[in-house]
Amino acid sequence: MEVQEAIGTRRSYRFLRPYQDVELEKIQKMLEAARLSSFWGNVGALRAVVVRRHHASADVMDSLMAAVAGYQIDVAPVIIVWYLDWHALEVQGDRLHELVDARALGIDLDATHEALDEKLIPFFNAIMDHIKTTGLTEMDCGQGIAQATLMAIEQGLGTCCLGSAKEEAIRQNLGLPDTAKVLVLQTVGYPFESKEAGGQRPRQPFEELFHLDRVGNPFPRDPGVVDELRQSKMLQDAAPLPDRGEELRSMQKVLDIPDVI
Ligand SMILES: Cc1cc2nc3c(=O)[nH]c(=O)nc-3n(C[C@H](O)[C@H](O)[C@H](O)COP(=O)(O)O)c2cc1C
Repeated sequence: MEVQEAIGTRRSYRFLRPYQDVELEKIQKMLEAARLSSFWGNVGALRAVVVRRHHASADVMDSLMAAVAGYQIDVAPVIIVWYLDWHALEVQGDRLHELVDARALGIDLDATHEALDEKLIPFFNAIMDHIKTTGLTEMDCGQGIAQATLMAIEQGLGTCCLGSAKEEAIRQNLGLPDTAKVLVLQTVGYPFESKEAGGQRPRQPFEELFHLDRVGNPFPRDPGVVDELRQSKMLQDAAPLPDRGEELRSMQKVLDIPDVI
């Protein structure tokens, strides 16, 4: 599957086949994709615990239960608990030196290592508490999770991200360090619903989101490009597709899920 189609086919798949396990190789590819994503200062603060429902204790499953549409946790064969480890920021200086050795940063090796130690690393250390409040690190983790999600789609899997308010229970049950911040739980499995999953979910109008040169001057949306992206299946028909109601009812019967989220 081309990346454009993977982006277009990416949906929140809330209905997964509970009886079909996911091969660990496919989960590994998701993790490999997440690991390759970019991070400010190359800190790489994204971490994950892959929980297999059939191997998990009742306590673990209880701590993962979601507040909204919790049935998703019951039917997902795999739940990836994505978290951020603040400890990674404390050793960010080492990551910068690695970038220099990899010839990604600076031209002269010795002079750049010296400048890091004398200027840049002390500067970052001085503003580290501020950096933690900017959202930059969480955004980078989100990029990694997005890459993992596209890898899941490419492999025929479905996922849905779920928020969690049970950070302490998750920390205890899964052994997360004190420096961990739980980001999101991601269900993974083979979709029970069709690939279209009812169509493209609503999005804000393109022209209201993006600007050219300055706010107030909408970025021009070329209809030719829109057509091209329709051809490549990145842009797909809007939800709900005509048979979505029937699809939902039939999945509800089999999976025994409530009428309301
Ligand atoms: C960070 C994050 C947290 C989310 N939390 C939940 C959740 O707790 N329960 C849920 O049913 N969907 C959750 N979603 C899924 C969104 O509701 C979903 O993206 C939205 O319905 C649009 O559908 P789409 O992803 O198929 O485009 C979450 C999505 C993200 C990215």
